[in-house]
Amino acid sequence: MNVVILAAGQGRRMYSSLPKVLHPLAGKPLLAHVIDAARALSPARLCIVYGHGGEAVRVALDAPDLSWVLQEPQLGTGHAVRRALPFLDGTGTSLVLYGDVPLIRAETLRELARAATDGLAILTVELADPQGYGRIVRDAAGKVARIVEQKDASAEEREIREINTGIMAIPAERLAGWLSLLSNDNAQREYYLTDVVSLAVAAGLPVRTVRPEHEWETLGVNSQAQLAELERIVQRGLAEKLMAQGVRLADPARIDVRGELRCARDVFIDVGCVFEGRVELGEAVEVGPNCVLKNARIGEGTRLAAFTHVEEAVVGADGRIGPFARLRPGAELAEDVHVGNFVEIKKSALAAHSRANHLAYIGDATVGRRVNIGAGTITCNYDGARKHRTVIEDDAFIGSDSQLVAPVTVGRGATLGAGTTLTKDAPPGSLTVSRARQVSFAGWKRPSKEGRGQKTEDRGQSVCGCAGGKHGLPRS
Ligand code: UD1
Ligand code: CA
Repeated sequence: MNVVILAAGQGRRMYSSLPKVLHPLAGKPLLAHVIDAARALSPARLCIVYGHGGEAVRVALDAPDLSWVLQEPQLGTGHAVRRALPFLDGTGTSLVLYGDVPLIRAETLRELARAATDGLAILTVELADPQGYGRIVRDAAGKVARIVEQKDASAEEREIREINTGIMAIPAERLAGWLSLLSNDNAQREYYLTDVVSLAVAAGLPVRTVRPEHEWETLGVNSQAQLAELERIVQRGLAEKLMAQGVRLADPARIDVRGELRCARDVFIDVGCVFEGRVELGEAVEVGPNCVLKNARIGEGTRLAAFTHVEEAVVGADGRIGPFARLRPGAELAEDVHVGNFVEIKKSALAAHSRANHLAYIGDATVGRRVNIGAGTITCNYDGARKHRTVIEDDAFIGSDSQLVAPVTVGRGATLGAGTTLTKDAPPGSLTVSRARQVSFAGWKRPSKEGRGQKTEDRGQSVCGCAGGKHGLPRS
């Protein structure tokens, strides 16, 4: 079997500089959906006809099993398939697909190919509004006679509601001959692939029609609105699959899976979550509203609270993450780790039972077990040129608002006093604190506006931080 995917059309109505077939649907380019459906049939040849500006398509999707044919200029669907002929096998069936009809199922294509074993088969649907499509014209006996395009159709033919989806299976040994007979003597001055239908009828070959199980399989994308419509169809299908596996979704209409989401039992997903790439949720994981997870693994029993963002990261079992937590690439949390609001973790491992509950940046760090990281703690991992590691050993306690200037180690069981700027290793088991001693000035008066114009010494005193009383602070 050969598969030819037509993708030379410009897609002008997308009003985008991205080629139409590269627009993503469920996180994957439109054309990649079609290629995947085609591959499921294991065709001997898989050929893609692309057009002007389509180099980007080839670059994005090239693979060893694909042949690419440039069609320039674009003189119609028949012309497009003719360009592909040199790349096709002359035996079996040649299946024609559209790069902008992404939801076609392999099962439907198999049925179409079976219907074409001794002739030609067309995938058709009956539409309440057939406007714009090629119509299936049948003879008095109900047999397919030809396809007439909207622009060439008579008023009577335009009443026909059975339309050509464009997807067709054609006997390969006849294809080249028929394509050479096509003319562009029609309303659009194009070489219509659809004209092979009357040629097959004239040759006495059976022409069959096949109906897809779902009409959405044949929907094409010509505009952003149609793309969004298809996205909802795909997402609805994915949501239904998840629910059928036992996943509880707060609202199947408000989840977006742009990749592969695997869920163990008793997973709950609240509204507005986006899953990208490969995401695994362990048993009884709860994902709060508006979380974004990309290439992530979440251990069983873990709860992600609202607005948690996880990318290329692993969370162990029984974690409590968020709300508003950000786990960046290389974050690896063991079991029972708590990460609270406005905590960012990058390329760091946190061992079991450790906590970073508020406002912290942990980058390039190795954090031991049962470590408590206070609010406002920052690992200063970057010196402007290189990144350095911070090591925090088991049972350490990092006081609030500390800066750990890497490379630096906090020893086992060490305590850092709040506000410490750690530039040397903190020994295990001790309290380390780096902080100016606290002083108080009794009877100190703030500068007053009335005092302006007076000599400095007579004015109030300020806390501007200037050393030495320039603004009235007592000299020490
Ligand atoms: C075509 C069919 C019509 C069918 C409709 C379904 C023909 C003559 N008409 O209509 O019967 O109802 O699809 O949508 O086949 N393409 C190329 N090269 C070209 C022209 C088109 O690669 O020179 C590709 C387009 O990128 C697209 C597909 O072929 O993927 C269909 O092209 P489009 O212009 O949408 O088809 P119509 O002529 O409207
Ligand atoms: Ca079209």
